[in-house]
Amino acid sequence: MTKVYNFMNEMDQEVINFLGSEIKNGKIVIFPTETVYGIGANIFDPFAVDRIFDFKGRANDNPLIVHISDKIMLNDIVFPYSDVERKLIDAFMPGPFTIILNKRDCVNKYVTGGLNTVGVRMPSNIVARKLIKAAGVPIAAPSANLSGKPSGTNIDDVYDEFNGKVDYIIDYGDSDIGLESTVVKVIDGIPVILRPGKITPEDIIEVVGAVKVHDTVLKPADLNEKVESPGVKYKHYAPEAKTLLIYSDYCSYFKEAIKNYIIPNTCIIGPEEWKNDFDCKYYVSYGSENNLSEISKKIYKSIRLADSYKPDFIIIVGVSDKGEGLAIMNRLLRASSYNFVNIDKFRQNKV
Ligand code: TXA
Ligand code: MG
Repeated sequence: MTKVYNFMNEMDQEVINFLGSEIKNGKIVIFPTETVYGIGANIFDPFAVDRIFDFKGRANDNPLIVHISDKIMLNDIVFPYSDVERKLIDAFMPGPFTIILNKRDCVNKYVTGGLNTVGVRMPSNIVARKLIKAAGVPIAAPSANLSGKPSGTNIDDVYDEFNGKVDYIIDYGDSDIGLESTVVKVIDGIPVILRPGKITPEDIIEVVGAVKVHDTVLKPADLNEKVESPGVKYKHYAPEAKTLLIYSDYCSYFKEAIKNYIIPNTCIIGPEEWKNDFDCKYYVSYGSENNLSEISKKIYKSIRLADSYKPDFIIIVGVSDKGEGLAIMNRLLRASSYNFVNIDKFRQNKV
């Protein structure tokens, strides 16, 4: 039995305290964060953590992000960190930011997929923070979605996949940001973005003067090599239908070019402004072409909606990969299994 609490109008501190103690005692709670919903368990309870892997169908070597409510909790689970790491922590925590640090022994390797490092995040969402504080223990929480599917950003999507499995769900409406946190690991003194998010490369440069974007952000991981972030090995955010990502930074005939790819039962996912411009069976708007924050917020819901029409083919209109667009394009490349066309270069891959 899954019990749902709605906190959209009012957040009841007594219920938060109750859910905090339930988590501490091994129960599984799906809770809101500012990025996406998380499926949470007490990091010190191996059985609870194991249930998360089980519910998601997640590979055991894919590490979980550990959520904390304050810096005291941080210092309990990681070894002292460098100056660069401290600057990043001071600038971006709480917020949509995860930093990879060396873990202390109290963090068991079943949480970190066997690694000696742990990804730590302090959400800014008030419900998340209060819940972690009430639990009194760090909460391991991957995104609330079945492995391979788009992350849950609203109650309907989360409920569909986890009702009857998890113990509790907190409904707090649509996630503000809609894409998962920026994951950063400092390597040789330079912050390396392993997964892009709302905190952009430019934001990081402003704080520490340097940043690198890992190769696997816009390219598939080479599975013969050691990967820095195990998550990149796995299928992600994917619809059921075969999917093509088409993008262009400057091509004047971009829209015309897209028309060449439409087949009878196609669904296009693209900007609101273009919704009447194509002769295709379904069109799902992901928001205004000029508003990357809106697209971030709606993209996972749009992919799920497109899939629900059961089209034979999905075309997703890509965006610029600058600023917040980097995170969107990272997810769309994965959602399409790197099946993309860049109209500008007319570089084709696996179409
Ligand atoms: O916004 C978010 O980060 C959400 C919310 C719920 O907080 N959580 C989330 O967790 O996206 P998950 O498990 O879906 O993604 C975790 C990502 C994976 O790509 C994983 O490989 C990476 O973080 N990661 C976690 N620990 C790591 C570590 N020690 N070293 C390298 N990568 C790590
Ligand atoms: Mg995930």
